[in-house]
Amino acid sequence: MFSKLSMNVAVRYMSAQQQKLQQTAQKVTSQQVFDRENKYGAHNYHPLPVALTRGEGIFVWDVEGKRYFDFLSAYSAVNQGHCHPKIVNTLTEQAKKLALTSRAFYSDVLGEYEEYITRLFNYDKVLPMNTGVEGGETACKIARAWAYMKKQVPDNQAKILFAENNFWGRTLSAISASTDPLSYENFGPYMPGFEIVKYNNTESLEKALQDPNVCAFMVEPIQGEAGVVVPDVGYLKKVRELCSKYNVLWIADEVQTGLARTGRMLAVDYEEVKPDILILGKALSGGLYPVSAVLADDPVMECIQPGRHGSTYGGNPLGCKVALSALEVLLEERLAENAEKMGNLLRSELSTLPKDVVSIVRGKGLLNAIVVNKKYDAWNICLKLRDNGLLAKPTHGDIIRFAPPLVITEEQTRECAEIIKNTILNF
Ligand SMILES: Cc1ncc(COP(=O)(O)O)c(C=O)c1O
Repeated sequence: MFSKLSMNVAVRYMSAQQQKLQQTAQKVTSQQVFDRENKYGAHNYHPLPVALTRGEGIFVWDVEGKRYFDFLSAYSAVNQGHCHPKIVNTLTEQAKKLALTSRAFYSDVLGEYEEYITRLFNYDKVLPMNTGVEGGETACKIARAWAYMKKQVPDNQAKILFAENNFWGRTLSAISASTDPLSYENFGPYMPGFEIVKYNNTESLEKALQDPNVCAFMVEPIQGEAGVVVPDVGYLKKVRELCSKYNVLWIADEVQTGLARTGRMLAVDYEEVKPDILILGKALSGGLYPVSAVLADDPVMECIQPGRHGSTYGGNPLGCKVALSALEVLLEERLAENAEKMGNLLRSELSTLPKDVVSIVRGKGLLNAIVVNKKYDAWNICLKLRDNGLLAKPTHGDIIRFAPPLVITEEQTRECAEIIKNTILNF
């Protein structure tokens, strides 16, 4: 006999099922997509009104069949292009074989991936996680453990430095490091032991590093969410020097800048420096699966022992195979080189826009942004770009990021530059 409650639950599931069948039979419109998300989903994002249903390479299509150039690449997660056939094939083959074991057991894929990624980036060890922010959390935990086990910082006194306007995600630790009120307000109390220094300012860094309780400095080689802020040439070299001088770990957050996006495999490669801890994410799976990684050499990584850190999904066979494949695609298709060339072309095209309309064009490789005159609303420009077949997202009211998948060709780059220029000039 069903109780009244379980009958109600059964009816609810049945009607959800029927609703689903009905919806697959009739095509949804963009407006229906917006309305449903708006009604049933938390309003923690403010998406550009476009309802996507398919992606391939640098293109995405909406539910009405309109095609767009994707100039956001899921915030640089889709460096290899949407639904890259090699990575999709790897994903489907591995999904049929073994997807998740948890780290309670060994799998025949994890070690293969670990060997590949550590050799590729020249680190002794990798700690696999899922999202970018978990990578940041992991790096902070490793750094704190290192502070007590190696640097002899007194118990619970370790400090980690972050750069002003950093962004590394949405967990309580990440927002505790944030200087953007939109990120942190109303979410306190905040994580202690986090301090802020100025970005691209080595005096401010050196002053803070003199505190013997400082164990790490975490920084993005180019600040992505802050609006693609590129530091001066030599900044990263100096960061390396200073962190070594004061026996402080340098953590490079390459979740957005890494994996060919800026025209090198890593953005730190431009200055030929090696961080003590490297965080990767996003494009590590080519946009197919959440995979992140923290890399470090043995003296640092050995501060984490069994039972001290982990994740049910981190290092799962499916994610590892996908990541292997995603890394191979970056190398096989020479995407860093393409990003450098196409980035130079894009910036030189956009630099011809009148300075009173677009005051700044900046970036490296295919991580770029323009700053538009305050009297033009960046959101409205993005709506017009969408109408003209190109998707980009504004930040901070006057900045628009242009970061297409790295598989973009020269002809497509020129076509997109024309769309952007015409849209802005006709605005
Ligand atoms: C530099 C940087 N670090 C970390 C993150 C967080 O990654 P995730 O959203 O996968 O947690 C982001 C996300 O945009 C990022 O740009």
